[in-house]
Amino acid sequence: MVRGIHLPHEVDQIRDLEIRDSDVFVVTYPKSGTVWLQQILLLLDSKGDMDSIAKKAVFSITGLVPWIESNGQVQMFVKAESPRYRVTHLPYHLMPKELILKKGKVIYVARNPKDVLVSFYCFHKMAKMLETPKGFDEFFDKFMRGEVGSGSWFEHIKGWISHKDDLNMLFITYEEMIQDLHTAVRRIAEFLEADLTQDQLNSVVKHSTFKNMSQIPKSNMELMPDDMFDHKEGRFMRKGIIGDWKNHFTVAQNEQFDEIFNQEMKDFPVPFIIKD
Ligand code: A3P
Repeated sequence: MVRGIHLPHEVDQIRDLEIRDSDVFVVTYPKSGTVWLQQILLLLDSKGDMDSIAKKAVFSITGLVPWIESNGQVQMFVKAESPRYRVTHLPYHLMPKELILKKGKVIYVARNPKDVLVSFYCFHKMAKMLETPKGFDEFFDKFMRGEVGSGSWFEHIKGWISHKDDLNMLFITYEEMIQDLHTAVRRIAEFLEADLTQDQLNSVVKHSTFKNMSQIPKSNMELMPDDMFDHKEGRFMRKGIIGDWKNHFTVAQNEQFDEIFNQEMKDFPVPFIIKD
């Protein structure tokens, strides 16, 4: 465990991994749209062909765009054919050193941390590998102190943003994806130099809307085994909206959040308004 972050044994090897120019890492703090990006990457790769993804012998798309920090994945990564697509919640200082040579590509997806907090709270109730929170208020306090599985949201985003110009990085927000998925997908495609026709891009967008992803078993996580997710506690594809925090935060919690956010982020411009 480093600064409250649970890490696998192999994490030391990740720093020294050799990076290829065709490698793509999607970097997120939990609940910021990781699976959404997995879906978009796979669709861009298949030129919008959802059937070819549905046919793969995996029970979730996570098997196709794995976590670099999952047990056993470092060796798989070394041996994998290009292009190697991976997701990660790791902080910047634990990721491959070679990224700073502008090798590989990084897509950092950020989400309003108030909505992250709510989504993470609901996820803790269904994910069996995470401690079940006693209640929202307790979880709120832990999140604000960075005492949750992936450590502090503030440290995560600051660590990555401060190296934005050193890396080959696309920074995108969950909110802009919600507001205009077509433009977001086009930006991602351009960043990855993916050559798709307009119809193919339209198909990527169509199969990555919340409504459609919610109905695809390999994308909505409903096939995850019961010893990992308690499906009675809720759905992974929960609401997929902006501003659900307003249904959970008290006025006092909102004021406390704003104060800490303004303090923590005063030197780090973030392109979203946390009051929405
Ligand atoms: P909510 O719990 O707010 O609904 P992650 O994949 O990083 O764990 O993030 C999960 C969050 O992303 C969940 O948020 C989930 O519903 C949302 N999400 C996943 N796919 C989405 C999509 N196509 N459109 C909007 N939100 C999506």
